[in-house]
Amino acid sequence: MTAVRDILRTMDYGLAPESDEHARAWLAAHSAGFGHFIAGAFTPPGQLFDVFNPARGERIARVSQGTEADVAAAVAAARKALKSWSALSGDARARWLYALARHIQKRERLLAVLESLDNGKPIRESRDVDVPLVARHFYHHAGWASLIADEFPGHRPVGVCGQIIPWNFPLLMLAWKIAPALAAGNTVVLKPAEFTPLTALAFAEICVEVGLPPGVVNIVTGDGATGAALVESDDVDKIAFTGSTEVGRAIRQATAGTGKKLSLELGGKSPFVVFEDSDLDSAVEGVVDAIWFNQGQVCCAGSRLLVAESIAERMYAKLRARMETLRIGDPLDKSIDVGAIVAPVQLERIKRLVEAGEREGAKVWRAPGPLPERGCFYPPTLVTEVEPASILAREEIFGPVLAAMTFRTPDEAVALANNTRYGLAASVWTENVNRAFEVAAKIKAGVVWINSTNLFDAASGFGGYRESGFGREGGREGLAEYLEAPAAATKSAKAVKAPLNALPGRAPAPDGDSIDRTAKLYIGGKQARPDSGSCYSVLDPEGKVVGLAGLGNRKDIRNAVEAAAKASSWGAATAHNRAQVLYYLAENLESRSEEFAARLGAQTGAGAREARAEVETAVRRAFYYAGFADKFDGAVHATKTRFVTLAMNEPWGVMGIVCPDEAPLIGFVSLVLPAIAMGNAVVVVPSASHPLSATDFYSLLDTSDAPAGVVNIVTGEAAALAKTLAEHDGVDALWCVGPRELSKAIEAASAANLKATWTRLPPRDWADEQGRDYLRRATQVKNIWTPYGE
Ligand code: NAI
Repeated sequence: MTAVRDILRTMDYGLAPESDEHARAWLAAHSAGFGHFIAGAFTPPGQLFDVFNPARGERIARVSQGTEADVAAAVAAARKALKSWSALSGDARARWLYALARHIQKRERLLAVLESLDNGKPIRESRDVDVPLVARHFYHHAGWASLIADEFPGHRPVGVCGQIIPWNFPLLMLAWKIAPALAAGNTVVLKPAEFTPLTALAFAEICVEVGLPPGVVNIVTGDGATGAALVESDDVDKIAFTGSTEVGRAIRQATAGTGKKLSLELGGKSPFVVFEDSDLDSAVEGVVDAIWFNQGQVCCAGSRLLVAESIAERMYAKLRARMETLRIGDPLDKSIDVGAIVAPVQLERIKRLVEAGEREGAKVWRAPGPLPERGCFYPPTLVTEVEPASILAREEIFGPVLAAMTFRTPDEAVALANNTRYGLAASVWTENVNRAFEVAAKIKAGVVWINSTNLFDAASGFGGYRESGFGREGGREGLAEYLEAPAAATKSAKAVKAPLNALPGRAPAPDGDSIDRTAKLYIGGKQARPDSGSCYSVLDPEGKVVGLAGLGNRKDIRNAVEAAAKASSWGAATAHNRAQVLYYLAENLESRSEEFAARLGAQTGAGAREARAEVETAVRRAFYYAGFADKFDGAVHATKTRFVTLAMNEPWGVMGIVCPDEAPLIGFVSLVLPAIAMGNAVVVVPSASHPLSATDFYSLLDTSDAPAGVVNIVTGEAAALAKTLAEHDGVDALWCVGPRELSKAIEAASAANLKATWTRLPPRDWADEQGRDYLRRATQVKNIWTPYGE
């Protein structure tokens, strides 16, 4: 008698096609071509381009190429709608978001099939992952809309948001962008990717269906030129972009100095780390989800397999066996695992990169078996013997290609994991909970999945470190990207009393006396002579020399960054320890308040009372951040069942800080203290005209147990020093308060390494400049997902 086991072994899959009748009818109804969705209505079709189904290579629709005029009309509609939309109560906005979620669910079959037709992804994924997550995002943010007034008191929406999304998760990326923006009271102009605009247009119809007020959501289709026009628009307050690092850089350049808020979610080369004590069969299933989900066209795909040397061959053998069972073919077949690549140009890119890797000596393996005869398909591929320097280990392939490397020790695993310019996600496999968390803490990535991979939820933030971009989507921190913190009253800001001294000032004759009185730089816990050997004169408002300060240059900044990097143990110190140092600083400043007040008066001409008030505020601020050092907690998010999702506030590492010219003491203290309270080491450029309050601070640091290198101070010309900080790869984040030209220079200079920057314009009332917003910006959130249960 035939055993069931034998039947299972010999049984083949039959076809399990999902009907595309409904979607085809929808496409047929639009066969004349789609216009844009502006001010609540579709425009007549303009110049049309073709949209293809990559699995069959057939044209399925024609959509309009958005012109500058189309973008301008959409932005104007969004601007017009902003006033009434942002004035609605949170509850009223919640109802709209809720209605959108409901209608998405009603249309889920159409949306899933359309997504698979347009993008080539298996229907199993669009039906079970993409569309349910889209609805979840709108529901989750409906909740936020009601809660914003309580949870973000005094905050206001950013305004009109330009949103540019890629083709790998077309509708899901739309939801990630539109749901939080609308919840927070913004209006949007969204540009979908040219390969996959169809579900965004179907979403526009849903907006009409629910009666969303005209102009709240606008959708303009087109290619990169349309996206660039949106970025360039003068009337857009924020740009949110997901896509390639290269375009992210161009957008950083284009927005530099414009004051537009920017969030970038860029590429990745995420490590998938397997230790020898992991559950190997689960890890193999994890790999399937990590790199063959959506054909590997996932920004956080686990594309680098790092496996313990002792189990590597066993893991590869299991992987090969599993790869033989993966089914590649028609995305609308419900039992297909791997669908089509989005477009021929992307297929060519994958082929080119794998061939380049092969030429470098990597070994390529694919399961035997034919690919579909037509359409854009690339088989799941395992590449072993990949060197860390290989193109396959460095470049984002964005295809179903896994590059495998081995390691011997946990330290080596972490070093390999971090050996990338990206930092989007990581997956760590081990049955040892201590090791799992230690490695998760050491990997520089915005999301770490322990014994799991590619999990997403609206309640958890998502976004990268380093060249993977900045800003988060999802969760509380994602919402914060669409809100402005209450502005400090700038009206009452004191005018800068002292003239801004021209730099470099005349260095007085280097007689012994004046050299002794020159305030040096402060690097690695020691006073240091500037590399230039020069100093400049610090003048009072009457032009009288009140002291000399060192004229720092690039080399000094480099030394200071090196010293700050060496002080990394500060970030690992207990928050209690950091609080103690800040309390100590506060006490020491208080005990010398007369001296600091006198110094302020001498530099700025401030009266005794005013100067004393500035010192008092500085002391209060030190107490405030000392108090917060152990209270700016992370969170545990409620995401999926049987998962704990920990949102950890991590320090950036090394921060650059360029202080304002006004308020020499309180400006310095308000920026430096939150940064170090959160565990960062800083390189500070104090007020160029009044640097002596900062240089007096050396002695406070010396007597307050602040470890060497935690605060480094380089005096000199702000513009030149700030540019060096912006360009330095060792500086993880940069804050700058200065004129618009300085913001522009910094943002443009940081485009190459995509450093997170926070630029603010003076004058500000520094008496008001404190709060959680500073702490939030002194940290970045890492979300660690951990499963529990057997
Ligand atoms: P892309 O970055 O060119 O396209 C993403 C979006 O940006 C699209 O909507 C596009 O029209 C728009 N865009 C292009 N140039 C623009 C510009 N100058 N200004 C404003 N918007 C612009 O990505 P592409 O060319 O489709 O894919 C190339 C590579 O990028 C992929 O192979 C992959 O490595 C990476 N990529 C990464 C994604 C991610 O989620 N991290 C998503 C898509 C691509």
